[in-house]
Amino acid sequence: MATRTQSRPSTSSRNGQSRSSSSGGKTSNSGSSSSSSSSRSSDRSAFSWGDNAGPLLGAALAGVAIGFAANYGRKAIMQGMEATVGDWDAILAAEHDLALAIFDKMLATDSTQTFKRKMLLMKLTHALDKHSHQEEMVVYPALRDANEAVDADHLEGEHGYIKTFIYDLNEMGPDSPSWLEKVREFRQLVASHAHMEEEEVFPRFKQDLSEEQNARITSLVNRDGFWMA
Ligand SMILES: [Fe+2]
Ligand SMILES: [Fe+2]
Repeated sequence: MATRTQSRPSTSSRNGQSRSSSSGGKTSNSGSSSSSSSSRSSDRSAFSWGDNAGPLLGAALAGVAIGFAANYGRKAIMQGMEATVGDWDAILAAEHDLALAIFDKMLATDSTQTFKRKMLLMKLTHALDKHSHQEEMVVYPALRDANEAVDADHLEGEHGYIKTFIYDLNEMGPDSPSWLEKVREFRQLVASHAHMEEEEVFPRFKQDLSEEQNARITSLVNRDGFWMA
């Protein structure tokens, strides 16, 4: 039962196409076409920049760059935190614990704390979304390649019901009388799902991995988690 790692050829070739929006100024002179009227204001494209657009454009680009750097920094910090956890299975187990801790905070709320419930559900949704993406894009495919398709399909099917709980909670609203009961059921599903992964499927899969394969899966899980953070 070996997991094969395949390298894929890069297919990301891009054509650097630049569009020029020329204004098609028409003249009333029959038979003569004037192409030297670009300085007239009536010929300006709706998308053309004014003479003083330089500083504005620079500020806008600087804002985009700062935003990108901040987001990249946040992702790098989160990835750094994950990288200290260890192998892919330890990373995923830590994420299970994180999700279950959010459930416990949700279960400690009452129906008057609607804002807190909404915030916690958003946080849980993001955590589970990132986590399931890492499993569905890396670990479950690797399981299938290692002839563990039955377990991989079962676990991926449960992810569908996890999404259904999120959908139902959003639809019922945080002040619903059955909100806590729904969260309790939801927590049970996630806890049993995590238990199956941590205690049965992942250890059985991991014991047949070479050190290199194990490191590869850890790297892929970290990379996927980075982009989903
Ligand atoms: Fe899972
Ligand atoms: Fe999981």
